[in-house]
Amino acid sequence: MLKAKNIFKRYGNLEVLKGVDLEVKEGELLSIVGSSGAGKSTLLHILGTLDKPDAGTLEIAGIEITSLNSNELAAFRNKNIGFVFQFHNLLPEFTALENVCIPGFLNKENSEKEVRERATELLTMLGLGDRLDHKPSELSGGEQQRTSVARSLINNPQIVFADEPSGNLDSKNAEELHNLLFNLRKELNQTFVIVTHNRTLAEQSDRYITISDGLVV
Ligand SMILES: Nc1ncnc2c1ncn2[C@@H]1O[C@H](COP(=O)(O)OP(=O)(O)OP(=O)(O)O)[C@@H](O)[C@H]1O
Ligand SMILES: [Mg+2]
Repeated sequence: MLKAKNIFKRYGNLEVLKGVDLEVKEGELLSIVGSSGAGKSTLLHILGTLDKPDAGTLEIAGIEITSLNSNELAAFRNKNIGFVFQFHNLLPEFTALENVCIPGFLNKENSEKEVRERATELLTMLGLGDRLDHKPSELSGGEQQRTSVARSLINNPQIVFADEPSGNLDSKNAEELHNLLFNLRKELNQTFVIVTHNRTLAEQSDRYITISDGLVV
């Protein structure tokens, strides 16, 4: 599903990634752990095609990402990649349902009615069936994060990346979110790559890798 080879990334003099190799199989839930500043978010942004490596190759679903021009890349990303940010990035003026629908409308593959139905279905799966019309400020932190997970899934992406999705939740809400991710992986055979500081989540994953000194160890 995903093959990254020899990924390098530096910020000025700081060499953050020094030749990362990584493969993710279809349907796998892979966790990435490592100390603060180790380069986990940097790697996730590159894998999620939000940022470019300085060197190295990345293939997702059989497509060589580094060969795409910027228009092709934007279309590829919208269709194939889901991303859950640490601080969810929901649009404050839109409801939960609208937030989930927006990437679906942008994708233009399904009618607005179909997108709305799928968004409702996903939010319901995530326990938010009675929160569709709530704006982010009217949702709890855990509910906002679950809305963000629903949004990442709206276009049936090949792969979903999540950067510490439970990092700002208390332990009960974090556990609930983790259980939902495991269920989604099973029900949708969804591939996930998750950066986490949470030991339990890492240990319950199919596999976890540690980033240290710019490499997978
Ligand atoms: N845009 C940037 N410009 C300069 N330095 C950066 C930039 N982004 C990240 N860094 C530096 O690169 C290193 C890796 O950052 P990164 O965000 O990938 O770490 P992380 O492993 O996700 O840490 P955390 O667990 O705290 O989120 C850090 O030392 C950080 O200061
Ligand atoms: Mg980070």
